[in-house]
Amino acid sequence: MNPTGYAQLDELLARLAGIASLDESALEAEHTAILGRKAGALTEASKQIPTLPPEERRGFGAAVNQVKAAFEQAFTARRAELAEESRRRALAGVDLTMPARHRWIGSAHPVTTVIDEITEIFRGLGFVVAVGPEVETEWYNFHALNFPANHPAMDMHDTLYVDATPVPGDRGGRQLLRTHTSPVQIRELLTHEPPVRAIIPGMSYRNDPFDPSHAPAFHQIEGLAVDEGISFVDLKATLVHFARRFFGETTRTRFRPSYFPFTEPSAEMDVECQLCHGSGCPACKGTGWMEILGCGMVHPAVLANCDVDAERYTGFAFGMGPARITMLRYGVTDIRYMYEGDMRFLGSLR
Ligand code: DAH
Repeated sequence: MNPTGYAQLDELLARLAGIASLDESALEAEHTAILGRKAGALTEASKQIPTLPPEERRGFGAAVNQVKAAFEQAFTARRAELAEESRRRALAGVDLTMPARHRWIGSAHPVTTVIDEITEIFRGLGFVVAVGPEVETEWYNFHALNFPANHPAMDMHDTLYVDATPVPGDRGGRQLLRTHTSPVQIRELLTHEPPVRAIIPGMSYRNDPFDPSHAPAFHQIEGLAVDEGISFVDLKATLVHFARRFFGETTRTRFRPSYFPFTEPSAEMDVECQLCHGSGCPACKGTGWMEILGCGMVHPAVLANCDVDAERYTGFAFGMGPARITMLRYGVTDIRYMYEGDMRFLGSLR
C-alpha cells in the first residue's frame, strides 16, 4: 500500500465541502484543478495505480473512483444551483402577473383605403388605372391643359419648381412638382388612341402652408374618358353612380357651374353632408352639401394639344382629393391629421 496515495485523496476530500460555496469562475477553476483531464489532482492520483503492487491496485483504484464520483456529484449540484440563482436574478423585478402587450397589427392608411375603393368603383366601369411622373414640365402641367400663359397658378407662390433651367423642346419648360394629376390626362392621350378611360391616383404638390385645409403634398385622383359621342350626360351618370357606390345608394348629389381652363363646360359636384345628411351643420357650414370634386367636358384645345381629333372625339374629366373625401367620411376637420402619421389618430378611424 502506498500511503502517499491515500493521504493525497484525504487532502482532496477536504476540498469537497468548499465546492458548495464557489462562484461560477472559481467553480470551473476548481473543476480543472481536481478533475482536469491533463493535470487534475485526481487524474494525477490515478496515474499512480499502475505503479502500485498488484494487490493494492484494486483497493486504491476503487478509492480514487469513489472520490472522483463524490466530486463529480458536488460539481453538478453546484452548477445547477448557480444556474437557478442566475435565473432568479434575471426574473427579479419582472412582474409575471402584468398583462401582456397587445400585438401590433398594421393596416392600410385610411387615405390608401379610400383611394383603393374609388379606383375599384371606376375599374368596374371599364376605367384602367394609370400613373404619371411627379416631376413635370410646365408644358404638361399647364400649357397642354390650356392654362393661359402667365396664369397665376404658375407663380412661384403656388408651384414648387425643382429646376429653373427649362427643358428644351415643344413639351418642355421649367421643371416642377406637378400641382395636380391632370398632366397625366395629357400623357394618356398622347400615348393611347381613343377610346381612353383612365383613373389616375397620385401625389400633387403646391407651395402652400400646412394648415387645417391645405397640405403641401396631397393625393389626387384624376379621371378621364374620351370616346366618340361622350356627352355631359355620361359625365353626370358616371359621377352620380360613383357617389352612390362610395357614399351610399341614397346619397343626393348636385352639380354647380365652375371654371377650369382644361374643361368646358366645367362643374363642381357636391354630395349631401355626410354628417348631417342635408339638414345643415357646422361641418357643411349650414349648407347641407359638401364639395367632392371638379369636373367638366375636356376642352377641345386640350384634345388638339394631344393630337386627338376634337371633331370626332369628346370626353369628360374629373379630379378629386381623396384625403378630403376621407375627412368627409369620418368627419375630420383638419387635413393635417391625414398626413402626420399619428397612430393614435389613425387607429381611431377604423
Ligand atoms: N386639376 C384640378 C385641381 O387640381 C381638379 C380638376 C378639376 C381635375 C376638373 C379635372 C377636372 O380633371 O375636370 O384643382
